[in-house]
Amino acid sequence: MSYLVLDGLTKQYGSIMAVDDLHLEIKKGEFVSLLGPSGCGKTTTLQMIAGFVDPTKGSIVLDGKDLLRIPANKRGLGIVFQNYALFPHMTAAQNVAFGLEMLKVCKDELSSRVKETLSLVGLSHLADRFPARMSGGQQQRVALARALAIRPSILLLDEPLSNLDAKLREEMQLELRSIQRLVGTTTILVTHDQSEAMALSDRVVVMNQGRIEQIAEPYIAYEKPETEFVSGFLGKANSFIMGVRIEGGNVFGQIGEKKFPLRDTKLSAGKVIIRPEKISFCLQESAILSGKMKSRVFQGNHWLCQVETTLGGVTVIQQNDGKEIAPEGSEVHLNWKPEDMRSLNA
Ligand SMILES: Nc1ncnc2c1ncn2[C@@H]1O[C@H](COP(=O)(O)OP(=O)(O)O)[C@@H](O)[C@H]1O
Ligand SMILES: [Mg+2]
Repeated sequence: MSYLVLDGLTKQYGSIMAVDDLHLEIKKGEFVSLLGPSGCGKTTTLQMIAGFVDPTKGSIVLDGKDLLRIPANKRGLGIVFQNYALFPHMTAAQNVAFGLEMLKVCKDELSSRVKETLSLVGLSHLADRFPARMSGGQQQRVALARALAIRPSILLLDEPLSNLDAKLREEMQLELRSIQRLVGTTTILVTHDQSEAMALSDRVVVMNQGRIEQIAEPYIAYEKPETEFVSGFLGKANSFIMGVRIEGGNVFGQIGEKKFPLRDTKLSAGKVIIRPEKISFCLQESAILSGKMKSRVFQGNHWLCQVETTLGGVTVIQQNDGKEIAPEGSEVHLNWKPEDMRSLNA
């Protein structure tokens, strides 16, 4: 049973379709990310759920109730927006207590919930500190505690970590994930960062120009992108035009000069993609493609290589097994398993 259902949700600003006929069902306890480039309609979608923006068309149903008939402040949602700052004149504890006071929670319950929620985000020791004397990460933790203290039916997060530096952002991602798993609150995260969405979510909703391109588990979206946009947005992909031939009852694919058996793949003729980490260096006789190592960059656990071939540049990621790989300028040969390719026009 779906807990939250967006049906035909649409927001038009003049001639701009900010959100275009969105259909999305979210289960209770699920962590879903809206992922896509700037301007694709993520924030507008979240704001319609929050009640700050009225849809042009469509419905939002939460737990069987028509959410659009309920005013924003009565929806019982927890919200952490990038620009949804803490109250500067209130301590961490007072900030967290704020939403509970609005709900007229009794005094004893209020103080125990503030303690409990601050402890959940690891900030018990900073209860009496003012925001100006906290780091960016600590402030976002307070904002998260403030949103969770009211025990929201849904937690809405709009780029909550994007103001933090890279290392802190990664730490906070892990923490956010474990807090969400612990409290089990249904969560929708808006982000343009594909690694953040993949790290945190049960499912990602990849959006482009107001529309949904694909809804899938992170691993499926990455391995089996349904559109070229999804393929490119979730990571680097090499694309080739593949021909298909049938000879003697067997099906062969052909890229450039090279023919290879396709067997049990679902590949069809036309554009195919292959991720850089699925390509390996090999001997000339087993190569699908050959070329020149244009650049190789050592990145600790892997090498990032650009190989120049007659079919264009190919990106290859080679796990570091402790040995040095072929030097720049040398001739290299590439192969991969046909089943690791995906057709984009299937
Ligand atoms: N209040 C508004 N008035 C006019 N256009 C808007 C308004 N809010 C958003 N838009 C437009 O709607 C589109 C989607 O915006 P938004 O939802 O903020 O995207 P995202 O959060 O994915 O970056 C953009 O083209 C944006 O310029
Ligand atoms: Mg936005």
